[in-house]
Amino acid sequence: MKETLEKIKAAAESALNAAADESEIENLRVKYLGKKGELTAVLKQMGSLSPEERPAMGQLVNEAKQKLETLIADKKSRLKSKATELKLKAETIDITMPAKEIKTGGLHPLNHVVNDMIDIFQSMGFDVVDGPEVETDYYNFECLNVPADHPARDMQDTFYLAENLLLRTQTSAAQIRTMENRKPPIRVICPGRVFRADEVDATHSPVFHQLEGLVVDKGITMCDLKGVLEQFAHEIYGSDTKVRFRPSFFPFTEPSVEVDVSCSECGGKGCRVCKGAGWIEILGAGMVHPNVLRCCGIDPDVYSGFAFGIGIDRITTTRYKISDIRLLFENDKRFLEQF
Ligand code: DAH
Repeated sequence: MKETLEKIKAAAESALNAAADESEIENLRVKYLGKKGELTAVLKQMGSLSPEERPAMGQLVNEAKQKLETLIADKKSRLKSKATELKLKAETIDITMPAKEIKTGGLHPLNHVVNDMIDIFQSMGFDVVDGPEVETDYYNFECLNVPADHPARDMQDTFYLAENLLLRTQTSAAQIRTMENRKPPIRVICPGRVFRADEVDATHSPVFHQLEGLVVDKGITMCDLKGVLEQFAHEIYGSDTKVRFRPSFFPFTEPSVEVDVSCSECGGKGCRVCKGAGWIEILGAGMVHPNVLRCCGIDPDVYSGFAFGIGIDRITTTRYKISDIRLLFENDKRFLEQF
């Protein structure tokens, strides 16, 4: 019996040493220590021993049992830590590796400028409104006092989508939509994209941007127009910028003006940016024509107003000294990354 015990012990030890994973160990545990295990079988045979032999043999079997149990526990924990070690090795992060560059986008220069313009006008109490880029003839021309046969239409050669549907040539269309939906006092701006069938060159693009402004209330005069637009010019170009109002013509305003600012590059002496003029034209404006107010159901004998349309692309190119308007639309990253 002792011999059998020794044999079992030796076999179990070597099998355990060779075991490669937990399920093998578990099989061995069942094989030797389980209910029908080999060691258990030996224990069961104790009954056939004489009472003198029993205690010594019992001790041996118990020792063997304990030994095997410790071996199994050891082997299990060794396997476990080996597995952890392997896992850690496989998942090692090389912290010396250069990190992946995270690319964040930036604002397009036009958006920088629009945001600044919105800030300036909002601080003067203007709301921002939106208008559709596809407009009807009525909003883009007709109600703005530009009837079908008006020569002013020629200056805004237009993309027609259908007989009465076109890509808006001016954000002024938003004036009409606003006056239809709001009652005076009205103080709104509408920044947006406009379209004209223009040839592309350094200063022209068939797509460009305007910021429309409209104020309607009782007792609005040309002084309000001048004050607001001078304030705007000073905030966008600096407080020593000179502002010049020239008489002009727009069908939807009377009187009408065009507004120039002294060139921020040369201070008025004449340079490449202002093409030698010393002045840069930035907007058209005027007192809202009574016909326009009337068309929107606002009584011109009670209310008056002024309106303006600012060229956003022009403000952007002069502010950042961009020599060619096409750069704003080509989306060349080398250009855009500079802002
Ligand atoms: N819509 C004009 C243009 O595109 C600009 C303009 C002039 C807008 C006078 C106005 C204004 O609101 O009063 O040329």
